[in-house]
Amino acid sequence: MINKIGIVGGGNIGGVLVSEIVSRRLARNVGLVDVAPPEFAKGKCLDIAEATPVYGADVNLEGSKTYEVLAGADFVINTAGVPRKAKPDGTFPSREELLATNLKITDLVAAGIKKYAPNAFVISIANPLDAIVYRLFKKMKAKPHRIMGMAGVLDSARYKYFVAEAAGVSVENLEAVVLGGHGDTMVPIRSASRIYGLPVEQFVSKTKLAKIEARTRAAGGEVVGLLGSGSAFVSPAISALEMVEAIAFDKKKIIPVAAYLQGEYGVKGLFLGVPVILGKDGIEKIIKIKLTADEKKALKNSINAVKKTCAEVDKNK
Ligand code: LAC
Repeated sequence: MINKIGIVGGGNIGGVLVSEIVSRRLARNVGLVDVAPPEFAKGKCLDIAEATPVYGADVNLEGSKTYEVLAGADFVINTAGVPRKAKPDGTFPSREELLATNLKITDLVAAGIKKYAPNAFVISIANPLDAIVYRLFKKMKAKPHRIMGMAGVLDSARYKYFVAEAAGVSVENLEAVVLGGHGDTMVPIRSASRIYGLPVEQFVSKTKLAKIEARTRAAGGEVVGLLGSGSAFVSPAISALEMVEAIAFDKKKIIPVAAYLQGEYGVKGLFLGVPVILGKDGIEKIIKIKLTADEKKALKNSINAVKKTCAEVDKNK
């Protein structure tokens, strides 16, 4: 059992995180920060705490508007920021359009984590994902192997789900890799995706796979459009906990995460979705994948998109 998990942001993702931690008995203590009045984080925690006897889970929950509830956390999961919201005309902003607002919030988050949980592993979910984790890293001066963004678990889960549905097989038979930024340029890697160890093309036609890959790239937006207000929240929360468990239980599990690259995949000084080994030291190794020429081209395009957003971040001091 983990001693303490801190969560920043008690909205939809934060709420699922807390209740899921309780239901899995994953940590002894949870600290939740949310600035919303009157005492939103306290209310969220009290609601879930009152269910702990039903769960049979001895987990202490503490909610606050301020960051001291993160003190002593082994992990901090950052969900703070405004989510995407459908506009009256039915369109919705890109994750990148959230940047200016969410950067201001992120700077406060970075200061709070640095002050109260400087040694925690940090997993960031807020959007635009690759840029927000980059800002947190810079502001916290964090160690690269201890800070990462949650994107690849979710993006590859979406790809797996769509392919499993098309192939008429169990989601458990799927292996899939999605690389790059967590934006509309992300790159599902068909050549590394398998059903029961066999090439996906054996089960699903190339035309159908191309449609599925396009749907995967736009999958976050599809949910935003359907919900009308806010973005997906169950799948991102569960995906972040997959990363927490891999580190806490030293699983050495290969998982795609947004990792700080120092030359891998031709990228230096940016966060990008790549497969890594997650274990007790956090990101223990970055795994390289051989890509086809088309995949390389698509990844380059995704890297350029992330570079562009991070350049915006650097401009916004
Ligand atoms: C999504 C948001 C959470 O992909 O980034 O649904």
